[in-house]
Amino acid sequence: MSKPKIFITRRIPDAGIDMLAEVAEVVVNPEDRTLSRAELLASVADCQGVIGLLTEKIDAEFFDAAPKLKGYANYAVGYDNIDVAEATRRSIPVSNTPGVLTDATAECAWALIFATARRVAEADRVMRSGAWQGWGPLQFIGQGVRGKTLGIVGAGRIGTAMALMSRGFDMRVLYTSSSGRRNAVLEDTLKARLVPFDTLLAEADFISIHTPLTPDTRHLFDAAAFGRMKRTACIVNTARGPVIKEDDLVDALKNGVIAGAGLDVFEREPAMAPGLAGLDNAVVLPHIGSATVESRTDMATLAARNMLAMLAGQRPETCLNPDIFGPAFFDAERSDRKGGAKA
Ligand code: DGY
Repeated sequence: MSKPKIFITRRIPDAGIDMLAEVAEVVVNPEDRTLSRAELLASVADCQGVIGLLTEKIDAEFFDAAPKLKGYANYAVGYDNIDVAEATRRSIPVSNTPGVLTDATAECAWALIFATARRVAEADRVMRSGAWQGWGPLQFIGQGVRGKTLGIVGAGRIGTAMALMSRGFDMRVLYTSSSGRRNAVLEDTLKARLVPFDTLLAEADFISIHTPLTPDTRHLFDAAAFGRMKRTACIVNTARGPVIKEDDLVDALKNGVIAGAGLDVFEREPAMAPGLAGLDNAVVLPHIGSATVESRTDMATLAARNMLAMLAGQRPETCLNPDIFGPAFFDAERSDRKGGAKA
């Protein structure tokens, strides 16, 4: 029997590719760059499986271009790039990579909090320029973090991990929840409080965004929201760029409406809003939240396991549209497993 063909739209760590190569013909985009739309569509024409990136739109046109597709695995936890409803309508399973990048992303949010609070990137630039003339009492004065109020927008996996990391800094923690559900871990461990969005804006010294991008969260942070924050507050975004209206953020940073911003994601990646690059009170990173050896490797092996399951007609571990497998499938799967165990 011929091997199924899997296309990986950009090189990922070998650990994942090696797992797939045992059972499939694996083709990896040979160039380390994002494919054009036309290249992507042409590359998937005869594939049973595709592992792709957050930079690619996985929509009806994509599925039309891949008529043999048995499954699509996103190499990311965020899946605003996938039309999940369309995949479900076509009974194509789709998966993402939750869990394995939680700590890496939470740590990146902290890196941005410290970098903005203590003006790290700005000070580094001055050192490298040769302009530093020696120690001075009024140079690069930033803000302390200990004892301040941390506001978590979206207390899911990453938001929770990020908040728990505040324990060494005795912070008061506020959080919002789009479902209105309380986060027992945060409340029990940190005495965190679920508050309305406006309360979080008004009281937080550091706001960290961890909400997914949805129609409700697009431009959640706009001029009005910045206007309700403390003038001394810093905002950090490691989630998705369009949660912040970036042009409004540039105005707020320029005019002292808020004190600083640390951004790992941007509204129109890879571009930044005009004016942002020139602002010393913005720290900007090229979407590296999950970029640790551990996370990127685990993302690759999770995506590979998901792909292997989908090729076998099974529900992947982290499935975004489990309904397509239906209750009948689960019963059959359970009895198969039992049979296998006995044998
Ligand atoms: C994700 O997984 O959604 C990140 O943005 C990249 O790892």
